[in-house]
Amino acid sequence: MNNRFLVLGLFAFTITFNSSPSQAWQTATLERPASVSQQDRLSNTASSKMNMIASVHPLATRAGLDAFAQGGNAVDAAIATALTLGVVDNYNSGIGGGCFILIRNSAGEFFAIDGREMAPSAAHKNLFRDVQGSISGPSRTGALASGVPGALKAYGQAVEKHGRLSLKSALRMGAKAANEGFPITRAYADNLQGTKRQMSRFPATAKIFFREDPSSKQIRPYEFDEKLVQKDLAATYANIAQKGTDWFYHGEFAKATDKWMKENGGVMTFEDVSNYQTVDRTPVRTTYRGYEIVGFPPPSSGGVHVAQVLNILEQFDLKQLYDDEPAKMYHVVAEAMKLAFADRAYWLGDPDFVEVPLGLIDKNYAIELAQRIDLSTVVASQHGTPPNADSEFFERHTTHVAAADADGNWVALTTTVNTTFGAKYVIPGTGVIMNNQMDDFVAIPGKPNAFGLVGGEKNSVEAGKRPLSSMSPTIVLRDGQPILTVGAAGGPKIITEVLWAIINHLDLGMPIGEAIAQPRLHHQWAPTDLLLESNFDPNVVKGLTSRNHSIRRSSGMGICQGISFDPVTKTFTGAYDPRTTGKAMGQ
Ligand code: GLY
Repeated sequence: MNNRFLVLGLFAFTITFNSSPSQAWQTATLERPASVSQQDRLSNTASSKMNMIASVHPLATRAGLDAFAQGGNAVDAAIATALTLGVVDNYNSGIGGGCFILIRNSAGEFFAIDGREMAPSAAHKNLFRDVQGSISGPSRTGALASGVPGALKAYGQAVEKHGRLSLKSALRMGAKAANEGFPITRAYADNLQGTKRQMSRFPATAKIFFREDPSSKQIRPYEFDEKLVQKDLAATYANIAQKGTDWFYHGEFAKATDKWMKENGGVMTFEDVSNYQTVDRTPVRTTYRGYEIVGFPPPSSGGVHVAQVLNILEQFDLKQLYDDEPAKMYHVVAEAMKLAFADRAYWLGDPDFVEVPLGLIDKNYAIELAQRIDLSTVVASQHGTPPNADSEFFERHTTHVAAADADGNWVALTTTVNTTFGAKYVIPGTGVIMNNQMDDFVAIPGKPNAFGLVGGEKNSVEAGKRPLSSMSPTIVLRDGQPILTVGAAGGPKIITEVLWAIINHLDLGMPIGEAIAQPRLHHQWAPTDLLLESNFDPNVVKGLTSRNHSIRRSSGMGICQGISFDPVTKTFTGAYDPRTTGKAMGQ
């Protein structure tokens, strides 16, 4: 069955109020996380009338800017940035992983390129139960944890069909950074330190990311600001630049993967890599207070649940609730998130394998769910039954790139190797970190994955199936013209980060930099706790506690990038998340 999740009719649409995104942020009363300094607050944005690119790493953003300077469009910039992130930020993403790319071209057409990993042909429902009993290890680390990577094929397709430059040109800055080395960020060093035990199990991997300490002579991971050179990865990029993606999917990379898998208990074969295909999907669309929201369809749960939560929230006047008592607004948003995540666990999976009900983003279903929300207390929730649901069916990973140009090309690209350094190994001789996306399946029924997510039969492991994702590349239109794009990293928090950027920008009228910097809360139904970023306003915390939320504090709520466009001044504003050392730039 192919992509049965289709665009829904947009009925029962209600406009309760409408804040202009360009309206000044006048009520600067929301708290910000302690970790975000005033300096960060002022410098997490950039403006330009020509084009814009935002990512989590200054070198990667520069690669995008370089693509613009070479005559490239937003697609060329986004792919050059993503390929450079695969070198300088490869604990989050890379060509050993997968991605979703949402493109709006200058003619106003939308394209959703699915480069999500696929389960190898020998994978089956009991794969992880058979090898690990009840222990989660093999779905997270080592050979069995990896799905067949799709990112490179999707990047190549995006540039070929929608860009003006070439894949070779997009690889250039990344290849240079790999060959000459770059000083690693504090976040990179911390992530390396945090995964050193697993990574040291793989000698070819340790050889790249570990070094001899000059004073103690002990072998240890590279540290903050030390220069990391990745010669094998540089050679891989050079080979792809010269021979195209065939070198990866039908040549040396596929051969090396087959060999390593056989030697290390994996099941991925040369044929699995060669047979990998991207899928062109139909974006998910809904409306929200007069805006059109365009998101990524299943196997991402992101587009569906961003739309579903917004549909529920449309039943409430959030600004009024916020003005009454901020905790009231946060409570309503948390309860809406909870309802959506209960549905996610039950209804979502790869639409090429299972039925995903169209009714999840039905406006009438949202009204029904909204009626379950009690303004004074939390309500226990189960998944609902959306219309037309056929009764027989029953920290700190991933990265997002936002790009736009004055011709009207917009790109929202979320890419990942799943958790930090993916499956913690490289295919020897290639420098490519392999993903651990198999953990996004329900590897063992009833057992939460690395993000604490539980799921059902629809997301069980099957040969050739794509694991359910939360990645939510999103583009927002007003009167048919793009005015905002956002996306994020952080597992299931991606969905709620994107929601907060939209709510803060559209409902509360904050500029995009502020909207992204605000403290966030997250609810994913299971576990039942409401997660609050560390320095939420104490009055909000009190208000949520009085409504019986079980609150847990969290220092990490993911990383979000976005670009807004002011149709009056015709200016882009790009913003990176001040929770990291990113960069937004335009010419
Ligand atoms: N690997 C995280 C996600 O796709 O949701």
